[in-house]
Amino acid sequence: MYQVADLLDALWRDYTASTPQADRIHALLVARGETVHNDHVALRTYGVPGIDIAALAKPFEDHGWIAREHYRFQEKHLRARYWQHGDPNLPKIFISELIVEEMSPTTQATIERLVAQLPPGFGARPDLPWAGRPWTLTHPEYQQLLAESEYAAWMAAFGFRVNHFTVDVGKLVSFPDLPALNAFLSEHGFVLNDAGGVIKGTAAERLEQSSTRADSIEVAFSDATVKVPSCYYEFARRYRLPSGELFQGFIPASADKIFESTDVNPKPRS
Ligand code: NI
Repeated sequence: MYQVADLLDALWRDYTASTPQADRIHALLVARGETVHNDHVALRTYGVPGIDIAALAKPFEDHGWIAREHYRFQEKHLRARYWQHGDPNLPKIFISELIVEEMSPTTQATIERLVAQLPPGFGARPDLPWAGRPWTLTHPEYQQLLAESEYAAWMAAFGFRVNHFTVDVGKLVSFPDLPALNAFLSEHGFVLNDAGGVIKGTAAERLEQSSTRADSIEVAFSDATVKVPSCYYEFARRYRLPSGELFQGFIPASADKIFESTDVNPKPRS
C-alpha cells in the first residue's frame, strides 16, 4: 500500500496538470518565503453506489482520515462530508456527490450511460481519487448536463480527480489576512470568483474563503475537443471557537458559492 505522502503527491501532480494556475500561485508563495500548508482537498463524484462518497473516501480512510460532519446543498442537489486526519498537519478531505435521483430523466439517463462504461472493480481502485475519466461522452451530452447542473457536467468531463486544493491562509507568515492575499493574487493577474462577493463567510462564522476562477483546458469529447473550465485554487482562513480551538468545519452557504468557481457562465456578483 502506498504512503500518505505518496497519496497527497499523486493528488497534487494530477491536480496541477489540469490547473496550471495552482502551480504558478504555489511558486509565487514559495518565492516570497512561504511554506504552503493545505487546509483541505476537495473531490467530487456522482451519488451512485460503488463510486459514491463512501467509495471515494475509502482510500483516505485506509490512510487514517476520520469521517466528520455531513452537509446538504439543497439548490445544487449535493451531499457532502469531510474527513480529518490524526496528524493535524495533513489537509482535511472534503467529498461531495450529486444526488442523481433529483436530476431530470434526461440527465439521469446520460449519467447512467457514463456509469455503464465503468470497468469492473473501478470503484474499488486504491487510486480512485486520481483515476481520471473512465467514460467517453459527446460534446452535446456535456452541454445537456451543463444546462441542468454545472456539477454534473464537470464530473462527466473530468471524472475522478481533485476539484481543488485549498491553501491554509492562517499558516502563511507574510499575509496578515485573506484580503491581503487576494490583493496579491489580483496584482499577479489571477481572477477571483466573485459569486457572493470575493470573500465568502465571516470571522463570526469562523471561516473565510476565496478562490480563483477555474482554468479552462481542452477536453476530448468523442466528437470534438473543446475548452471547458477545469479546477480552481482555494484559500481559507479559519478562526478560533470560544473554546480556543480552530473551527474545522465548513459553512454550507459559502461552499455553495465556491462550487460556482467552475461555472462556464459565472453569475453576476450577488
Ligand atoms: Ni473547498
